[in-house]
Amino acid sequence: MKINFVDLKAQYLPIKSEIDSAIQNVIDKTAFTLGEEVEIFEKNFADYCGSKYCIGISSGTDALHLALRAIGVGYGDEVIVPVNSFIATAEAVSHCGAIPVFVDVDEKTYNLDVLKIEEKITVKTKAIIPVHLYGQLADMDAVIGIAGRYNLKVVEDACQAHGAEALNKEGAWQRAGTFGDAACFSFYPGKNLGAYGDGGAVVTNDSVIAEKLRLLRSHGENAKYIHSVVGYCNRLHAIQAAILNVKLNKLDEWNRKRKNNAQLYGKLLSGSGVTVPYCGENRRHVYHLYVIRAEDRDGLIDFLSDRGVSTGIHYPTPIHLQGAYNNSGYREGNFPVAEKISKEILSLPMFPELTSEQIEYITELIRKKFKD
Ligand SMILES: Cc1ncc(COP(=O)(O)O)c(C=O)c1O
Repeated sequence: MKINFVDLKAQYLPIKSEIDSAIQNVIDKTAFTLGEEVEIFEKNFADYCGSKYCIGISSGTDALHLALRAIGVGYGDEVIVPVNSFIATAEAVSHCGAIPVFVDVDEKTYNLDVLKIEEKITVKTKAIIPVHLYGQLADMDAVIGIAGRYNLKVVEDACQAHGAEALNKEGAWQRAGTFGDAACFSFYPGKNLGAYGDGGAVVTNDSVIAEKLRLLRSHGENAKYIHSVVGYCNRLHAIQAAILNVKLNKLDEWNRKRKNNAQLYGKLLSGSGVTVPYCGENRRHVYHLYVIRAEDRDGLIDFLSDRGVSTGIHYPTPIHLQGAYNNSGYREGNFPVAEKISKEILSLPMFPELTSEQIEYITELIRKKFKD
């Protein structure tokens, strides 16, 4: 059986007519950049997250970069970043001329280890970026507490966590994107909410940050050819917003299917010798990725691949060991948890349309591999 890591065609086919007419509608209007579709999506996505403002941006990376600029991060500042994330989290800091200061991750959740943040705070620290990795919220109570004590801003990297929730101090479920000063989402095609190209957004409850972002994303322009700040060309395109408007209506159902798939994986992998994802009791995980840990991970990849199953590694090299950060003074041994898990983690196929037969096939192969 051949099983893709993600299957965007399986997602597209049932909604083809809605998507096609949404795209055609934009072409008919010939209004391609920002405009009505983007405004509708911004309103819808802000409501979905439970946030006051949403600003559509060209990608998750650009959303992070502009959000950091909007909260005042600049040259020489330091920003705390988990070392196990997609490199874009750190890149956004570097794009501001600031320094990403890496922190190790928690061995159970793979999110920022909040006990290791304070030792990294200096007079130059401006902000913390908790990443809600794989679809599970980071420990936001702890992050917000630390940020409050040291007067730091918090920018959530919610690029993998559309619709994820955590129980807040008041005992209510609260969505990713509403804990920090601002939160950034990616709509890269394979995300839980994905566009048909690049796309991103920042959500915030702060009107000043929202206004700065509106300026920054489009050449600092506040009226036709009136540019009050030096900005960027980082706008969300109308075709992507129109697609996202269709897909946002399906997001909760897709997230439910991902969760069901994760539960089935968990059941069928129990006792198999691999470690399945941990989901905290006070968390609603949206399983952007289903990440297991296994001995002989690379052998397992080959074993599955030889039998038609595609997998991924998120991420094979912690950011401090990437060539891009060669000159930042970090070396192997600095972040033992991230370094260890990077050799053991494996992302199994995960998407809403994955069938129980496919999960049974994958889990049977894993059991077989570890019995041999
Ligand atoms: C955790 C995380 N941060 C940032 C990004 C960057 O988003 P984009 O690819 O839309 O620029 C991604 C996307 O892969 C991500 O997973």
